[in-house]
Amino acid sequence: MKYPKEYLDEIKTRLKVSNVVSKYVQLKKRGKEFVGLSPFKNEKTPSFTVNDDKGFFHCFSTSEHGNIFDFLMKTQNLKFSEAVKTLALQAGMRPYTFSKADEDREKAWKEYTGIYSEYVNFFHNELLNNPDFKNSLDYLKNRKLTLDTIKNFKLGYVKKDLNLFNSLEKKFGKKSVKECGIFYFDEKKNIYVDRFRDRIIFPINTISSLPIAIGGRITQKNSFYAKYINSPETQFFKKGNNLYNIDRARKLSNKLDQIFLVEGYMDVIGLNNHGVENCVASLGTALTERQISILNQFFNEIVICFDGDESGYKAAVRAAENSIKELKPEKQISFLFLPNGEDPDTFISKNGKETFIKYYETNKIAIHEFLFENLRKQTINSPTSLAIFEKKLRYISSCIKDQYIKKYILDFFLGKISALTPNLSKGKQFAIKHIASLSSTKQIFNETSSITKEELQEFSILYLIINNFNFFKKNVSILDGMDFITIEGGNIFLKLLELLKFKDEVNTNRLPIETSKLVKINKFASVKHISKNIQRDENKLKEIFNEMKKDLKNLFLEKRISQLESVFSKNMDENTFNEIKELKKLQNNN
Ligand code: CTP
Ligand code: MN
Repeated sequence: MKYPKEYLDEIKTRLKVSNVVSKYVQLKKRGKEFVGLSPFKNEKTPSFTVNDDKGFFHCFSTSEHGNIFDFLMKTQNLKFSEAVKTLALQAGMRPYTFSKADEDREKAWKEYTGIYSEYVNFFHNELLNNPDFKNSLDYLKNRKLTLDTIKNFKLGYVKKDLNLFNSLEKKFGKKSVKECGIFYFDEKKNIYVDRFRDRIIFPINTISSLPIAIGGRITQKNSFYAKYINSPETQFFKKGNNLYNIDRARKLSNKLDQIFLVEGYMDVIGLNNHGVENCVASLGTALTERQISILNQFFNEIVICFDGDESGYKAAVRAAENSIKELKPEKQISFLFLPNGEDPDTFISKNGKETFIKYYETNKIAIHEFLFENLRKQTINSPTSLAIFEKKLRYISSCIKDQYIKKYILDFFLGKISALTPNLSKGKQFAIKHIASLSSTKQIFNETSSITKEELQEFSILYLIINNFNFFKKNVSILDGMDFITIEGGNIFLKLLELLKFKDEVNTNRLPIETSKLVKINKFASVKHISKNIQRDENKLKEIFNEMKKDLKNLFLEKRISQLESVFSKNMDENTFNEIKELKKLQNNN
C-alpha cells in the first residue's frame, strides 16, 4: 500500500536529513553539507555526507544514497512502512491510516501505469521489429537518431489500424482504460479511438521512470492534423508537475551542475543524441513553481534554452517572470538564446556538443540581467516610460520570496538604472531631475540599513496617501484590508484614515502627526519620484497603490511565517504547522 505523496512530503518538510541522521551518526558541518563516518562501513576518515537542501545523504565509500526513509531502512533494517511510522512520530504527526479511498487510488494507479507501460512497450517493440514500421524508423534515422537513442527514450510508432483498446480492457478493466487518456470516444461510430494512431510516440515518465502520459508527432507534413498532441491531464498526470526526461536527467546530478530546460521532446532527444544528457522539456506549459523546485532539488543551475524565434523569446520572458520568484541562494537560473531560427535540436545537430557547450559558456545570461535588458528595450526616454521601467523592476524584485536574493536583485536593478539614466537623459530637463532623484534614492537606500524594509514600504504607502489626499477621499475603500506591520506606521495610518473618512476639509500641510515622523516619511519614501509623474493619472495611481498594498501584505505574511517557523522548529507543534501552511497558501494567492 502506498502512502500519499503529500503525507511523505510533509514528513520530509518537517524533518531535515541532518536531524534524522545525527541521531545515529555524529555529523560535522562542512560548507553547505554535513560530514561524518559512514554507517555503512568501518572507516577512519569521513566519507558520509548529508545535504539538507537536496534532502539526501550520500556515502562516497559505499555509494549508498537516499532520503530520510532510505536512511532508516538501510541503517536500522526497517521496512518502508516502519520507517514512515517512526519518522512521522518524530515529526509530531499522526500515524497514517489507510482508507478505502486510498486503496482504490492505489489500485487505479497500478492499472494506470500498467496500461501506459504495456502500450508504450508494445509500440516500441513494433517500431524496432515489425517491418511494417520501416518508414517510421527511417523517419527517425533520417533525423540522425541512433538506435541507442531510440531505445533510451522508448520511442514507438502507433499503427493506424491497430487498436489496443480491447486487449487492454480485458486486462485492466474498461474504467481504467477509458480514463487513462490514450483513447477518446467517437460518438458517431460509437467506438473508442486511439488518439495517437499514425504517430511517433514519446513516453513521458515519472521521476521513477513509470510512463504516465505520451506525446505524439506526425511524420508527414499535414495541415489537417496538429504536429504534436499529448495525453490529456488525468488524475495521475498534471503537466505542470512533470518534466519530460526528468527520470534520466536527474541521475546526472552528482556529476553536473546544470540542467538545460528546452521546449520540445525532439530538443531533449537531439541533445541526448549528441551527448548532452542533462536536459528536460517543460510540457508545453509556462514553467511552474513545482517544476522549478523539482529541478532545484537536483541541480544548481537551471539553463532555460528555448527556440531562437519570437515565440521562444516570449516564452523565455514568461519563464523568467515566473521563476525569478523562486530564486534561492546557491541556485541559479540562466537563459541561453540560440541564433535566429535554431532550436536546441537543430543547433546541436549542425554544430555538435563542444560548440553547444562553448556557446552556452559564452552566451548565457543570468535571469535578472535578462529581465533588466528585456524591459530596457521597451523603455524610451520619457518620464512615464522611465517611471514604468523602474516600477516594473521594483515590482519584479518585490515578488522574490527569498529575502537575501530580493535585496541583492533590487540593489542590482537600482545600480543599473542610475548607471543608465545619464546617457538616456542628455539635454532633457525632466530626465535630469529624474536621475537626481533616482541616485539619491539609491544613496538613501544604501544609507538606511537601520530602517527595515517593512518600514520603507510603509513610508511609501503613507507618502502616497498624504500627497494624494483628495484621491483617497474619493476612493477610501481602496484602503480596506491594509495590514501595517509596525506600530508606528499603523498609528499614522489610522489617523489618516480617520481624517479621510470624517473630515471634509483637511490641510495636508498641517496634519496632526509628529513632524519628525513626517520628515522621515518624506525622506525615505522611495515612491516619491514616481509619484510626481503619476499624480495626474488616477488609474496609474490606483494601480501602483494596489501593488504596493500587495507587497506590504506579502511582507506581513513573510514576517508572520518566519516568526512561526522559528516557533515550530522548537516545538514541532501541529497547530503551528497548520497555521504556517495556511499563511503560505495566502501568500501564494496574493
Ligand atoms: N507542442 C504541442 N502541440 C503542438 C506543437 C508543439 O504540444 N501543436 C509542444 C510539444 O511538446 C513539442 C514542443 O511544443 O515538443 C515544441 O514544438 P515545436 O518547436 O513546434 O517542435 P520541435 O521541438 O521543433 O519538434 P520537431 O523538431 O519534431 O519539429
Ligand atoms: Mn525542432
